[in-house]
Amino acid sequence: MSEVRNDSAEYNLENTSRLIRTQADDGSYAPDAPEWTRGIDNPYLHGVYAPTTEEVTAEDLEVIGELPDDLFGVYMRNGPNPVFEPGEKYHPFDGDGMIYAIYFKDGKASYRNRWVQTDAFLAEKKAGKSIWPGIMGEHDYTLDGFPVKDTSNTDLLYFNDDIVTLWYNAGIPYSLDRHTLKTKGRETFNGQLKRALSAHAKIDLEKDELIYFDYWDEPPYMLYGIADKSGNVIHQENIELPGARLPHDIGFTPNYVLLHDLPFFHDMDILERTKKRIVTFHRDMPTRFGVQPRYGKGSEVKWFECEPCYILHIVNCWEEGDWVVQVGCRSTNPMPKANPEEGELSHMLAYMRLEANMYVWKFNMKTGEVVEGDLHTMNTECG
Ligand SMILES: [Fe+2]
Repeated sequence: MSEVRNDSAEYNLENTSRLIRTQADDGSYAPDAPEWTRGIDNPYLHGVYAPTTEEVTAEDLEVIGELPDDLFGVYMRNGPNPVFEPGEKYHPFDGDGMIYAIYFKDGKASYRNRWVQTDAFLAEKKAGKSIWPGIMGEHDYTLDGFPVKDTSNTDLLYFNDDIVTLWYNAGIPYSLDRHTLKTKGRETFNGQLKRALSAHAKIDLEKDELIYFDYWDEPPYMLYGIADKSGNVIHQENIELPGARLPHDIGFTPNYVLLHDLPFFHDMDILERTKKRIVTFHRDMPTRFGVQPRYGKGSEVKWFECEPCYILHIVNCWEEGDWVVQVGCRSTNPMPKANPEEGELSHMLAYMRLEANMYVWKFNMKTGEVVEGDLHTMNTECG
């Protein structure tokens, strides 16, 4: 099946060849990658990152060893899998969302992968080419929906008997059949979702609730909400922030939600002028965490100031008496220095070399005291 070819000799894939392995042991390149990827020197289009052109259904997979008879369930992941050659430089966050699933039942395993059929995916399929810019391109406000492509490629949840997919920049969630992975359409929480959902939302398995947030570029800038197991919104509150932000995750405990106001965000004047979302780390601004009674009013949020940092992913949150504790992966250098030898992709590649470590923050709800510090110094992320 594998076609043995030499992309490195035919094209100048300098960055790609230096950063990742592009060939299998037999010398073959990803055989199911689209032709347009071959000449693009971007490591996120080759090797293990190469997109596939196939939607596969494979029953009764070969099992090496033995699967327990009583193993019953599914492992799923969401990820970027671009269909068409982008009009701009490709960023790994840009690819159309694809769900990959391996199902286990009766000692057997089966596999399927399907694109998330977002509005943008369907429009581009119809046009036969890419339409929306990616995040490194200029925002195009003449397009329907978001000015960069909302791909729903970032996270997935099992909720209300469906799979719900999310996008990192706060996008439209989509619901998919959990067995066939067929996209059913936009997830609107029975018409009650005000706008969009952030990269990550959380399921509280004890209370059977989905805890979510949304953020955007105008006041009040943030919202958080809770949906019950039937998909009805049972709580939704605006949260006022000092400006547009780029939070990525949300924490919760039995009684609180934890919201992030992080000093790593874009300048709205620059966005208006250049149509690009240029992010800056403001090392002189504190990180603020809003600890909010779970079903409280937005005005009840209690803000705690901490050392400047950026956070992608929370690991866990809990309560200890008057204290609310959060553990997450913390970065104090979310803008690593770019290597000029990497040319036009140098900034993107620098951002992707994430530096973060496990960190703990403790907030005293009675006294307002904060305790924070490293849990470990090892470079750690999860998502
Ligand atoms: Fe994430």
